[in-house]
Amino acid sequence: MRNGRRRARGAIAVACGAVVLGTFGVPALWAGGAKWTAPPLAAARVNPLAVDAGLPGGRKLFGERCASCHGDAGQGTRMAPDLRERDVQDQSDGALFWKISQGNTRRGMPTYSYLPEPQRWQLVLTVRSLSSH
Ligand code: HEC
Repeated sequence: MRNGRRRARGAIAVACGAVVLGTFGVPALWAGGAKWTAPPLAAARVNPLAVDAGLPGGRKLFGERCASCHGDAGQGTRMAPDLRERDVQDQSDGALFWKISQGNTRRGMPTYSYLPEPQRWQLVLTVRSLSSH
């Protein structure tokens, strides 16, 4: 009996914890406004290019247009984040394409919507290939 009551109290404590986390924990992750997220429709797009066809051109473009900020191997510099990081690599091809296209100019990432779409998909392949370094 006493045991049962203790267990019940434990369960209530766990439930309260879950409510507190649910109320304050999760929104707090987003509240910083620092997360940059692609809209779902954009994130769902699939890369139309095959790796062997797209990667060589993408590497060249990356060296010309991206390495100055992200580093030759995408390792990041004082100017821009490491693109090999899991939080980048975990994003879908569509999400990376969207970010490269839109840019986030307030935070220092230029927009590349002026590049033809195939070149932007080549860049997505290149960003992907950085993860294996
Ligand atoms: C002038 C510096 C600069 C150049 C050039 C640049 N970037 Fe960026 N890039 C940034 C910055 C700064 C961020 C971080 C933006 C943010 O988190 O809001 C970023 C973010 C990104 C992201 C998103 C990373 C994430 O955390 O989701 C990708 C992908 C990316 N860049 C790819 C590229 C590619 C591909 C090129 C070349 C076509 C490029 N960048 C050129 C500065 C640059």
